[in-house]
Amino acid sequence: MTSGRNSSGTRGFTGGQNYNLEFDKESPHGCDTALFPGICLAGSPEHKRNRDQVEGEMNAIDLFCGAGGSSVGLKQAGFSDVLGVDIKEQQEYPFTLWTKDIFKIPVYTLKHFDFIWASPPCQAYSVASQPAKAKGKRYPDLIDKTRELLLKTGKPFVLENVRQAPIRHDLVLDGTMFDLGVIRKRAFEIHGFEVSLILGKKRAGTIMDGSYISVVGRGAGSIRQSYRAYMDKNGLKTIRDAYQHAMKIDWITDLKMLAEAVPPAYAKYIGEAFLNCVA
Ligand SMILES: C[S@@+](CC[C@H](N)C(=O)[O-])C[C@H]1O[C@@H](n2cnc3c(N)ncnc32)[C@H](O)[C@@H]1O
Repeated sequence: MTSGRNSSGTRGFTGGQNYNLEFDKESPHGCDTALFPGICLAGSPEHKRNRDQVEGEMNAIDLFCGAGGSSVGLKQAGFSDVLGVDIKEQQEYPFTLWTKDIFKIPVYTLKHFDFIWASPPCQAYSVASQPAKAKGKRYPDLIDKTRELLLKTGKPFVLENVRQAPIRHDLVLDGTMFDLGVIRKRAFEIHGFEVSLILGKKRAGTIMDGSYISVVGRGAGSIRQSYRAYMDKNGLKTIRDAYQHAMKIDWITDLKMLAEAVPPAYAKYIGEAFLNCVA
């Protein structure tokens, strides 16, 4: 494993850090030096970090973390540590990853975190999945189950998803608010703190003239022409370059994970609002 900082402020680990994470009310090793209180990241470099150093700092857990779009935004907002949880190995996740089914995490473990972010899969609700759904494909609908779990923690949390998902629209963000190359409207249900609304800006142009790109799937099909316009306008060579450029993500190379990512700017905005509330 190698490390070094990149422009996203991630530690730039080249491989997913996938530890055999053990958890309990008490550390199984009897140590009080775990990175996350009550959660002992056995074998991780953070394991030995002295808890005294993190007094007063806030940590976050990013549920359904994927390759870390939302996690990086939370780190940029100022959380001292972010633990990502995904059911699949995520080789490009830039922080500590816990490979785990969210619904098998005990509530008391989640209570150890100051802030919880959850981005359940959106395919059950998204327009982009309509053709597959029309052909009979079924996707898991995890929003109600996730909300039910997180309400039991009593902790501040955010549920993120596409606007068609069954969540409250306490906040809707889009790429124009952060000068991104995507529109990518996303809804946020916010529990336990407040976030100021911001207005979207007038769009600079259209997808067809290359002002924006639609980051969906692996970049094939009828919208290829619009990708070319975006790439030409920004001097980019590949669809991967275009996805990264448009979302301001520089550590994810897998097109599928780029297409699933939350732009870090959205999580940074919400994370900063939370940290300002508790400051
Ligand atoms: C929309 S993606 C998350 C994107 C991520 N927030 C980002 O910004 O890059 C949803 C992720 O949920 C994961 N997932 C689905 N069901 C899960 C479960 N029961 N427990 C943990 N992760 C799960 C998938 O593997 C996928 O990576």
